[in-house]
Amino acid sequence: MTKPLIVVNFKTYASASGEAAQLLLEAMEAQSEGPATFVAVASAFDLAPLSQASTHVEVWSQHLDPVGLGGFTGWLEPTTALARGAVGSIINHAEHKVSLEHVEQLLSMLPEGFPVCACAADVHEARALAALNPTYIAVEPPELIGGDISVTTADPSIVSDTVAAVKAVNPKVRVLCGAGVKNGRDVAKALELGAEGVLLASGVTKAKDVDSVLADLVALL
Ligand code: G3P
Repeated sequence: MTKPLIVVNFKTYASASGEAAQLLLEAMEAQSEGPATFVAVASAFDLAPLSQASTHVEVWSQHLDPVGLGGFTGWLEPTTALARGAVGSIINHAEHKVSLEHVEQLLSMLPEGFPVCACAADVHEARALAALNPTYIAVEPPELIGGDISVTTADPSIVSDTVAAVKAVNPKVRVLCGAGVKNGRDVAKALELGAEGVLLASGVTKAKDVDSVLADLVALL
């Protein structure tokens, strides 16, 4: 059976950049033999050192652009991200929206089996993204991102409705949910609603005691 996925987005938090990112990765590694698969979604600046330091935790990119090598100033070129150790990527995060064409072109450029998690703000967007066949779709109501109330409490039906809508379009796509996820109860509820894992950030990156938050996230699995 596949373990639930706990995807921690490091965003540009100071507490999850540079040396702090290394410490956070170490804390995640300490949980990686447990009941969940952990993913660290690192800044492009930190992809190489984190992927070198990781053993069990997967290191993903926060974004990629469908461009090649050459004259593409400031864009995140996929083969370079792979060469720096990225083994997956988020795309279309609420804080970095792109077009459906962007997602489609990117997916067509990536190697077979490279996991991509396309983020969706609602069921409608999730349905459109599912047709493009990403590995995962993470539904995250933008207004709940960074807040204290988990999507699984504030809007549980968006999770179950997204699961149903995505599976109806493309049963292969695995659904995650995020926004305000903070603890093991939120993770357990996400699974109960049909999601296969969670995408979270501030619950971990702003935690006073990261080790206990990470342990709590998997405590009910
Ligand atoms: O990418 C995860 C994110 O957008 C949710 O953030 O801080 O609400 O866990 P947060």
